[in-house]
Amino acid sequence: MCIICIASPKGGVGKTTMAANIAYAIQRLGHRVIVIDFDNQNAVRLHFGMPLSDSSGYVEFFHTKTDWSRLLKESDSGVRFLPYGRVSKHQIEAYEQKLRSDPDFLISRLQPLLNQPDTVIIADLPPGPSAALQALSLLEPMIINVLLADSASLSVLPEIESGEFYGESAKSRTYFLLNQIDMRSQLNREITEFLNKRLSASLLGIVHRDEAVPEANASQTSVFRYARASSVAADIDNIARNIHRILPVLQASEYKKYNR
Ligand SMILES: Nc1ncnc2c1ncn2[C@@H]1O[C@H](COP(=O)(O)OP(=O)(O)O)[C@@H](O)[C@H]1O
Ligand SMILES: [Mg+2]
Repeated sequence: MCIICIASPKGGVGKTTMAANIAYAIQRLGHRVIVIDFDNQNAVRLHFGMPLSDSSGYVEFFHTKTDWSRLLKESDSGVRFLPYGRVSKHQIEAYEQKLRSDPDFLISRLQPLLNQPDTVIIADLPPGPSAALQALSLLEPMIINVLLADSASLSVLPEIESGEFYGESAKSRTYFLLNQIDMRSQLNREITEFLNKRLSASLLGIVHRDEAVPEANASQTSVFRYARASSVAADIDNIARNIHRILPVLQASEYKKYNR
């Protein structure tokens, strides 16, 4: 088992979209995958064919002893997911408060999922520092930052690289992907080249900007089903293969920790 956090200091960069499509891609490589929505926007479900009218999720049960593995939904492709659900502002605040105040809470709730063999858990996070990110950090996850080729993304890079954002101990587990690249733009080309050099092996890959991405989302499916031959499908597959190569190293160090 292994946990991958899809994070970024900024919103609207494509975290949820990448979390869902990377989940599909990793599953195609033979892993069992669970996506957990930690963002109260409740958008993960929209990538997995859950009816819009269905507002169920796990957050409404956080204060009970409900086993989260029983709340998992399964998409047509076999990727399983835990939707956040539509809950009141009060419930959101109470859940976040619990995540912040009780370090064992999330670990105990995730335990039944973590104990499933060869399972990769992908956590879709809200932008910036969050209670969920703080709680997940105790499990020493792989962190994938979604960046755009713009000055706002470049400006947060030193904070991430210095360990200020995720903590010193997370540095060796911190990776990047560059999303929504348009090679017709000179600025995009220059920033891509700059980040390729600067991030080297921690850059898992780049994903081109392509209308197939929002279209696949609108059709509640992956780019692999919607536009199999597209360059974005190849981009995301390449990133998933890079993650697949790194996973055994992460798993080896995490095995003992989860099975306390
Ligand atoms: N590679 C891409 N090409 C085109 N549009 C994209 C791409 N990645 C994400 N998007 C679009 O960007 C918007 C924001 O994505 P989303 O995943 O909701 O971001 P976040 O979770 O970071 O807020 C969505 O409309 C999504 O379809
Ligand atoms: Mg999101």
